[in-house]
Amino acid sequence: MEFTELIENRFSARTFTSVDVDESAVDAILEAVLSAPSAGNRQAYKVVVVRDEKAKLLLADASGPQGWVAKAPVVFVFFSDIDIHTKSYGESKAAAIPSLDSTIAMAFAQLAATDLGLGSCWVAPFAHEQAQEICGLDGNLALAGLLPVGHTTEGRPKRKRRKSSEWSVKI
Ligand SMILES: Cc1cc2nc3c(=O)[nH]c(=O)nc-3n(C[C@H](O)[C@H](O)[C@H](O)COP(=O)(O)O)c2cc1C
Repeated sequence: MEFTELIENRFSARTFTSVDVDESAVDAILEAVLSAPSAGNRQAYKVVVVRDEKAKLLLADASGPQGWVAKAPVVFVFFSDIDIHTKSYGESKAAAIPSLDSTIAMAFAQLAATDLGLGSCWVAPFAHEQAQEICGLDGNLALAGLLPVGHTTEGRPKRKRRKSSEWSVKI
């Protein structure tokens, strides 16, 4: 898909069909993350691919609740890996940058899902306390967000956006 078409086609899809997401699509989405920039190329993130029904229900519940999350065949959970960054740069710079790395990674993953013809939606900033436990991970991690992904019959809604003149300045 050409880039302009890709970004135009992306929208937040919150309903999914019962058609499963192929493992090859999951791998392609993870592969897209490898193309993302990261501070010092440290790739300070961890991504969990959740297909387990019980884990998806717990994540959906901890996200508001937002029950529709559990209906996605696969939910990608993005964490910032604070220790990866701290080891290189120390505590002082650790606060913001790992979350930038994981956020950029998630954006790349969402665009990859769009490119594959799949629907997806960011879910944040819920489940901060619970997500790591639900995913069974140790370590100094911070939740960046969830990305439920699946086939959808939703069409892209008309975008409601502020005019660029309201949020951009040229100097
Ligand atoms: C950081 C972030 C958090 C979001 N959290 C949620 C959420 O918890 N639930 C939800 O349904 N949509 C969530 N969204 C999706 C937004 O509602 C959506 O991107 C916005 O309404 C614009 O619509 P569009 O993505 O279709 O262009 C989130 C988006 C972002 C970027």
